Amino acid sequence: MKNKWNHNKISKELQKNGYYVFEEYFSKKDLKEIKDTLLRTLNYIKPCKEANLQKKYYKIKKFDSKLKGHWYDISPYNINILQKLHKPEMINFVKTYFKTKDIFSGRPAIHVHDDENDKLLDPHQETNQFARDTLVFWSPLFDTNEKNGGMAVYKNSHKYGYFEHKLEHPRLGKKSWTDKYTHIDEKIINRFERIHLKVNAGSAVIFLSSLVHSGYNNKKKGSVRITITERFNPLKKIPFLKNRNATIKIPFQGINYNKIPD
Ligand SMILES: [Fe+2]
Repeated sequence: MKNKWNHNKISKELQKNGYYVFEEYFSKKDLKEIKDTLLRTLNYIKPCKEANLQKKYYKIKKFDSKLKGHWYDISPYNINILQKLHKPEMINFVKTYFKTKDIFSGRPAIHVHDDENDKLLDPHQETNQFARDTLVFWSPLFDTNEKNGGMAVYKNSHKYGYFEHKLEHPRLGKKSWTDKYTHIDEKIINRFERIHLKVNAGSAVIFLSSLVHSGYNNKKKGSVRITITERFNPLKKIPFLKNRNATIKIPFQGINYNKIPD
């Protein structure tokens, strides 16, 4: 088998396209174990014999959507998942990429997008981290495609530095699920070609924090997109360690990202 962790190749592609699709980041066995641990956690809320994670998700959502939200909130602390996510090969790659010996876990998370499509993210760059520049990791547990929805990237958008972000809901009057609706103005977004990535279950998109990305719609009733994400932060351009008054995470707004010194 050829070496999948070819640092040179991955780095070159990241520079060129802003992202790299790492095939089978999670082995079939890892993928099953991740789904199983998420299923057991849902089952703890209300036990039943359902063994399909997507069906179980909808059952718990119907039973108590608030507790479903608690499952979402507690899952980033699940050590079974963290062990598989933080694999040594990935950590080594991030260190090589940023030419540093020290990296930080910016925010492991699971993302859940069901057939309501009410939590789709508008186009944004990955900000509000410890470091200005990070490598973002995104891996779906089920295939993503035009039917199930997925992640979109904006071609060459990583080549222009960081754009200003807004936090208010872009479609005024529409109820927002979050008070930090980070996104870039449509006028800027329209300059870039939008590409819908189709990523197989267990494969991962590794991308630059400066690459503009968003979600695209799930059109299949009863399907839910569950993804494992992380932001790998290098010991570089971290205002919190240079400025006594800085917040631990760089604020979304009120700061010129392009002028953050090292
Ligand atoms: Fe993002």
